[in-house]
Amino acid sequence: MPLSQSDITSVLHETRKFPPPAEFSKRAHVKSLAEYKKIHRESVRNPQKFWGKIAKELHWFKQWKKVLEWKEPFAKWFAGGKTNLCFNCLDRHVNSWRRNKVAIIWEGEPGDVRNIPYASLHRQVCQFANVLKSLGVKKGDRIIIYMPLIPEAVFAMLACTRIGAVHSVIFGGFSSEAVKDRIHDSGATTVITADGGFRRGQAVGLKANVDKALRDCPGVKHVIVAQRTKEPIHMEPGRDHWWHELAENAGYECPAEPLDSEHPLFILYTSGSTGKPKGILHTTGGYMVSAYLTTKYVFDLREEDTYWCTADIGWVTGHTYSVYGALLNGATTVLYEGAPNHPAPDRFWQIIDKFGVTIFYTAPTAIRAFIKWGEQHVLKHSLKTLRLLGTVGEPINPEAWMWYYNVVGKKRCPIVDTWWQTETGTIMITPLPGAIPTKPGTATLPFFGIDPAVVNKEGREVPPNTGGYLVIRKPWPAMLRGLYGDPERYKKTYWSEIKGCYFTGDGARRDKDGYFWIMGRIDDVVNVSGHRIGTMEVESALVSHKDVAEAAVVARPDDLKGQALVAFVTLKGGITADGSLQEELRQHVAQEIGSLAKPDDIRFTDTLPKTRSGKIMRRLLREIASGQEVKGDTTTLEDFGVLAKLREEDE
Ligand code: WTA
Repeated sequence: MPLSQSDITSVLHETRKFPPPAEFSKRAHVKSLAEYKKIHRESVRNPQKFWGKIAKELHWFKQWKKVLEWKEPFAKWFAGGKTNLCFNCLDRHVNSWRRNKVAIIWEGEPGDVRNIPYASLHRQVCQFANVLKSLGVKKGDRIIIYMPLIPEAVFAMLACTRIGAVHSVIFGGFSSEAVKDRIHDSGATTVITADGGFRRGQAVGLKANVDKALRDCPGVKHVIVAQRTKEPIHMEPGRDHWWHELAENAGYECPAEPLDSEHPLFILYTSGSTGKPKGILHTTGGYMVSAYLTTKYVFDLREEDTYWCTADIGWVTGHTYSVYGALLNGATTVLYEGAPNHPAPDRFWQIIDKFGVTIFYTAPTAIRAFIKWGEQHVLKHSLKTLRLLGTVGEPINPEAWMWYYNVVGKKRCPIVDTWWQTETGTIMITPLPGAIPTKPGTATLPFFGIDPAVVNKEGREVPPNTGGYLVIRKPWPAMLRGLYGDPERYKKTYWSEIKGCYFTGDGARRDKDGYFWIMGRIDDVVNVSGHRIGTMEVESALVSHKDVAEAAVVARPDDLKGQALVAFVTLKGGITADGSLQEELRQHVAQEIGSLAKPDDIRFTDTLPKTRSGKIMRRLLREIASGQEVKGDTTTLEDFGVLAKLREEDE
């Protein structure tokens, strides 16, 4: 990643500010900015004391000797301690009054519902852990989970953690090729899958992809198949087993294995924008403590909440906030199998009213889709149980934030815009909803124990409102412990760009209140006439125009300016681009940001190419914008058709 250019120029100006509602603060875990600041100050002054105290709220088979052993860039948290994540998610509650509290409310896309209390979840997880043991799965073995979002996927994750097997969940939308690569890289011996799942009214097969992948994976000895769609599938004798048949012979007793705090917990592959996917490795104790604490404080979780994080378990958000963080806190977590617009674009709002969801956590890409579909779908439902909204995954454009606040939250619910990464494991920069005033478009302030900074390429902190590189200056409990099997790449990617700091790869600025404004990935930052501009800021300006639904801005080489900006724009339903709109949008950006940010070229398109997790594939757009052949990895592309279309418009 080149850090050789001048500092990033930050140009987004946003002055709206929303203090936490008084009623919210009164009942919140952290009630004021002063209280937040005091706890944060102490937590970064003495992180070991802070995290040691929190860790004691959870169960340990054996107490740690040292909270942190740090030999940059390798950390050991709660070294010498023994614990078990599954025990803390389940047994702790089963041994309490929460025994019959609902742990999971699950809805399938066809409308089938399962309510699973903690006691029942515990029994099913123990039973499946026994299934794994009966197939010879041992502590440390790597297990692939490639499933739709059905309760069995969660049982599988928890069963692995119970016996110390290391799971690697692969999002169900990935191809057989991606499954194969991940099996090879992780050296997995067992695959847990399903016949298929439901998506937009169709039964989508998964098992056939596994069969194809396994032609080149002789190391995989067993495949366990959960039955979901009941569509016919091939079952390889000796290798493939039906989940329900194996479970019949497995008992409900399976003690949780005491594991070293640093025992590997999971590997999650990130579909990076360049090169082969990275196997991000997380370990047990530190991740557990931080998942527990961030869920409790960021979502201000209360016993009676019905909490819904819409992420699929194939992404880190699904791991930490749909499953582990929620269960560690004894919460009721909602899971939904299908698409947000099936059978109609109001499915999410219907689910919120149906189950009385109080906390709703989703992604900007979803919010922009809702905006595009129109607010009438939201307004059909009361949403009166909601008390808190969250967002994660990309910078949220201020206009999308305002829409979320007004239309979904009815100006009543605080929004937590949470910045973090697969690598960080848990939320790092975020408002605490009862304490920190929010501003549309900023993730605000660091979470307890987290010490981020915005620095220049020499590693010196830059003044307020100056763009720079976002780094983390101190190790934190849920930090990645490495890239699976590749310590050199780990050092190089994260620990060599800025001396002594973890390098996030994101650009950011801090405002005069110390709030962090994330400007997107460094490679989404362009240099126009010597100004480095976060393309996200130009996108926000475009999206603030009344006709624009979504925008992606990339750079193409330009003889005069170094780089020129090209904007790909989708318009709101019913609006067609006439000749004057292009110029109007350029003027709009000039007005919002300044002439330097005016896109040189604006192209209208029906949809934008996205990864399956919803991130816009800027690399592809860059290639289109500069008239190159599209090269490289496109396996994470949601809709290949989009590419052809954008090209046509090019001609
Ligand atoms: C981006 C998702 C701005 C950022 C948990 C980061 C965000 C990358 C935000 C990690 C946010 C995530 N505001 N940008 N609230 N949240 N990002 O690994 O560029 O899928 O580095 O983890 O998403 O994406 P990942």
